[in-house]
Amino acid sequence: MAFKTLIADVEDHVFLIKLNRPDAMNALNTELVGELNCALREAEENEKVRVIIITGSEKAFAAGADIKEMSEKTYVDVITEDLFGSVTEEFQRLRKPVIAAVSGYALGGGCELAMMCDIIIASDTAKFGQPEVNLGVMAGIGGSQRLTRFVGKAKAMDMNLTGRFMDAQEAERSGLVSRVVPAKKLIEEATAAAQKIAEKSMISVMAIKESVNRSYETTLREGLLFERRMFHGLFATEDQKEGMAAFLDKREPQFRDK
Ligand code: HXC
Repeated sequence: MAFKTLIADVEDHVFLIKLNRPDAMNALNTELVGELNCALREAEENEKVRVIIITGSEKAFAAGADIKEMSEKTYVDVITEDLFGSVTEEFQRLRKPVIAAVSGYALGGGCELAMMCDIIIASDTAKFGQPEVNLGVMAGIGGSQRLTRFVGKAKAMDMNLTGRFMDAQEAERSGLVSRVVPAKKLIEEATAAAQKIAEKSMISVMAIKESVNRSYETTLREGLLFERRMFHGLFATEDQKEGMAAFLDKREPQFRDK
């Protein structure tokens, strides 16, 4: 797990990925994206890992795609290499839950990376934005799609068209982040949330992730049917018997992912 642009570490079922390009505000260059894809694959394949956290520095989660690297690219270059397609695909494949712990700037591809995660926990210094319009381009991996679904058309248009940043409080009010915590406690709080999830049955955790994500992909009627069938399916598991028996016995459940 030796990476150049990120630091990865597993502790107590939690795989922590820290983006680490301090000189460039964790801008997403080819090397970082390649290493991130690799770390995510490792986390997904490692049986000990139950939850993934992605974070940056106190100053920047990630200030977007690396502008220096992109500046000379042509249309033929980016369409041929499918610029940033790989990381999108990698996230689609992940079945384990991912928490983004965001402090400082989460801009452009940085904001989009946070939105690809399942939960965003923000520090009170976090700033979210889609300022690609200032560069003569536009969002490319979710800033006009996921953001619109998360915060609504009004704010998504505002952020994408003017490039203005949203602070942590506005992001929480708007439904972009699940909670705001003091900057000094960001990793502690994200880890505590990860540990809470790690205690549950992975079978129900993965079913929940699939079901919530499905709500963005389908009609309400289809989504409700999918949810109900997933719920029914969980009655085939030992963890359902254990979870309900533990409640009735007034004890903590011992889930075995069976
Ligand atoms: C490359 C970047 C960078 C970026 C910052 N840096 N953002 N390098 N790509 N996206 C570098 C700066 O060049 C500078 O390097 C160093 O990081 C510190 O940045 P400063 O600008 O000096 O810091 P500050 O004044 O505090 O301003 C911080 C900032 C600003 C507000 C985050 O850097 C900024 O606006 N960055 C660009 C944000 C952006 O436009 N993001 C969208 C990118 S396009 P030196 O060497 O000078 O010290 C995108 C497309 C997504 O994301 C589509 C698909 C992924």
